[in-house]
Amino acid sequence: MSFAKLTTKETSNMILSELIKSINLTSGKALDLGAGSLLESKFLLSVGYSVDAVDVDTVSESFSREIHDDKFKFFKTKIEDFDFKDEEYDIVVSLLTLSFISPDNFDKVFNAICGSLKRGGYTHLSFFGDRDAWAVTQQKMTFPTREKVENLLKDFKIIQFREEDKIGPTVRGDIKKWHIYNIVAQKL
Ligand SMILES: C[S@@+](CC[C@H](N)C(=O)[O-])C[C@H]1O[C@@H](n2cnc3c(N)ncnc32)[C@H](O)[C@@H]1O
Repeated sequence: MSFAKLTTKETSNMILSELIKSINLTSGKALDLGAGSLLESKFLLSVGYSVDAVDVDTVSESFSREIHDDKFKFFKTKIEDFDFKDEEYDIVVSLLTLSFISPDNFDKVFNAICGSLKRGGYTHLSFFGDRDAWAVTQQKMTFPTREKVENLLKDFKIIQFREEDKIGPTVRGDIKKWHIYNIVAQKL
């Protein structure tokens, strides 16, 4: 299934645009993990960032070919296999994606993501928590508790940690219970 093909999302995330407005940094390097239809990548490019976008999906890759900007690079790879370099990025965004990493790899990959952010840099993450309906059925995905996430982010100043518990449709139209963390944090 391709999320990028099925998604009806047409505008980039509000929290991200508020964050960019508040940090007032209009150049720098951004990483978009699980970039999907590339809306956040395009938004970050539009405000002046260089963007590395990562997604395993061939549809995202084909969308990436429509972006003709030297400041943009697309990596068609699993996040687990991406070559995270220490302190490379000013901002790391990953929306509705990190739960797709398996429990065996989650902590290691999460720590590599945090390591790739410069000190003082910002991250905006959203992913699924332990009360999500898929936590019961999707054994290969990761649904951490809030306590666990706070522990993984212990070297960050938490700016926002909002939990959404709601019933709503998937991109396929099935109705399910969602438990989603929305996080904005600054690396100390
Ligand atoms: C729910 S979509 C979110 C897309 C986008 N961030 C957004 O908010 O619109 C999840 C995306 O992550 C990608 N994805 C899932 N698991 C991945 C993995 N292990 N490595 C890289 N990309 C992955 C999917 O192909 C999909 O594009």
